[in-house]
Parts: sequence; structure tokens; C-alpha cells
Amino acid sequence: MRITWTTDDKSAPSIVEYGAAPGQYSSVVGGESTSYSFLFYSSGQIHHTVIGPLEYDTVYFYRCGGQGPEFQFKTPPAQFPVTFAVAGDLGQTGWTQSTLDHIDKCKYDVHLLPGDLSYADYKQHHWDTFGELVQPLASARPWMVTEGNHEEEKIPLLEDAFQSYNARWKMPFEESGSSSNLYYSFEVAGVHVVMLGSYTDYDKYSDQYSWLKADLLKVDRNRTPWLVVLFHVPWYNSNYAHQGEGDGMMAAMEPLLYAADVDIVIAGHVHAYERSKRIYNGISDPCGPVHITIGDGGNREGLAHKYKNPPPEWSVFREASFGHGELKIVNSTHAFWSWHRNDDDEPVKSDEVWITSLISSGCPVKKNHNLSEILLEP
Ligand SMILES: [Fe+2]
Repeated sequence: MRITWTTDDKSAPSIVEYGAAPGQYSSVVGGESTSYSFLFYSSGQIHHTVIGPLEYDTVYFYRCGGQGPEFQFKTPPAQFPVTFAVAGDLGQTGWTQSTLDHIDKCKYDVHLLPGDLSYADYKQHHWDTFGELVQPLASARPWMVTEGNHEEEKIPLLEDAFQSYNARWKMPFEESGSSSNLYYSFEVAGVHVVMLGSYTDYDKYSDQYSWLKADLLKVDRNRTPWLVVLFHVPWYNSNYAHQGEGDGMMAAMEPLLYAADVDIVIAGHVHAYERSKRIYNGISDPCGPVHITIGDGGNREGLAHKYKNPPPEWSVFREASFGHGELKIVNSTHAFWSWHRNDDDEPVKSDEVWITSLISSGCPVKKNHNLSEILLEP
């Protein structure tokens, strides 16, 4: 587990003390730290310390930098069931707080965030306040994120893209063979999760494309029967907001995901909720992924209310309300997805569906052999 925190003191040590009982730290680990400047802003010291090995499904107590408050977090289970909380486009408004309060009330193991975190939008101190806002949750469970447009913060000739995001939200990209923090993968309790980047090159000749192909080929469906992919800009979206923005990435990468039998694709960007049938190449396909858009975490831009009518044949459920999702992978064959509005009490499910894993459906053998070859092309 990587622990990240920021200190005003540039010389503060990057150590984490931790143990399985409050106040009793049996282990101490040193890490690394970094900082960045953006226009007139200088960040604090940003510390990253990887601790472990850790036991599965265990609560650990820890302290950062040799002083300060004690935090606790729970590691994910080794096996099914495992539950993911999902919310994109968070921002830092009263709506965000409501989403976080709802997520805090659900029993989950890992948080998945398909992009658009702080909405700092060049105002760097908003990255600090965002960290403070999410700390109660992000200090207690793994938060696995990928980047959205609001992370880019590029100023031509002055500031490189993704400086703050890469400095503060370091994900296990090196561990998954990626050369960029903007795309990576990880495995947890029988699920292989791929985090892609909508705002970095994705064409056939890009590093991301080659990495994705190699990563998908490495997936062992005996060890991880479920394959889930996240990125920011949705490919299947019947809202007028951001219509067609995902088309280029979809044209490049959808055949790879289909050939690899991806079960579920989760995106954000559109500030609303939508769930598709299993789909591939624009039409329902029992062997394609279910696509979910969940960019309704609560940012200051508000909701996206305008939908195309009539709804496309593939769109099962769509609504512009703030909320979050829960993906409970029950076993190797069944998962339960639910969407929860902030307007309702947390246990109320506004949309729910059982999803059967593709590897238990016979899809891999039914698929066109030529299509699978796309993964093996040099
Ligand atoms: Fe976005």
C-alpha cells in the first residue's frame, strides 16, 4: 500500500510507522518525497511511502512522518467477495461531501475514481483542500484513480501537463509495467483492473496502446476471472454533454477490450449516470462489456440534464442525479452493480443489476478467432 501525505516542512522524513494495534507500530518504512512549482505556487513536500507486506482483510494503524494523528486503513480481501465504491468527477462542493458521506456508509474495500478529482483548474491550493476533503476516506481504503481533463492543467510554453496530478496521486504504474502514471493496472481479490488515460496518446502506435495489449495478454482469468477497465471519457453516452468526445479512443481501443473479454467499462466526464447493455461496435452484443458512465460525484459544474431522444437501443438506465456506484464482485461468475442517489438514504438502490462474468458465459470461445489475433499483432 502506498501512503501519500503532504507537509509544509520540506525536511520532514518520509517514514510511515504501522502495526495491527492502535499506537503499537511494529514496522517503520522509509519512502520518497517530491515537490513541484506551478506559476507562483510552490507545493509542500509530497511524501510517498510504500508499506508492506501486509495481511489481507486486516485493519492497520499508522502514523506519517513520525508524528501527528494516527490513521487506520483496511486492506482488501484475498478472495471474493470484494466491493468497489465508484464515483467520478468529484470536485469539492456540498454535493461532493454528500457523495463522500454516502460512500463512507457503504461497506467497500477499494475506491475507484475514473478521473476529474479536485477541479483545481490551475489554482494549485485547491489540490491541497481536495486532499483534506477526501482524507477521511482516502486514508482508510485504497483509492485508485485515473486522470480526467481537469487534471491536465497544461499551459503551453510555461507548465507541463499533469504536474500536480502526477506528483500527488502516484499510482502503481511502474509495478504494472507502464512508463506513465497516466495508465496502469492492478489486481485485487480475483479482479484485474485496468486504468487507462483519455488524455494521453491511445492510437495504435502509442505507448499506451502497446502497454494495454501487453497487459491484457498477461491477464490470467483463472487467477482474476473479472476484467474491469476505467477511463475518463465515455464511449457510450446518450447525453448531449461531451457527445462523441470518446470516439477516437473507442475506435483505437474498443477491439482490444472486446478481444480480451473485458466485463465492465467505467467512465466519468459526463455529469450524470448511464448504464448500457453489453455492447460492441455500436450494437448490443452479449460478449461485449457493460459500459457505465458515473461522472455524477458532485463537482461545481453541476449536472448534465440533456439527453438524446429517443434513447439508443443500448441504453438501459440514465439519469442526471448526483450519486455513486457500488460494484460487488460476489464470486467468479456473478457481480452485483448498484447506483445510489445522494437524494436517497445510502441503502436505497436507484439502479441495480446482476452481471455475469464473460468467462463463465462461453463468450471467449464464440469470438472470432481473427479478433483475438489483434492482441498478438506485433
Ligand atoms: Fe471531465
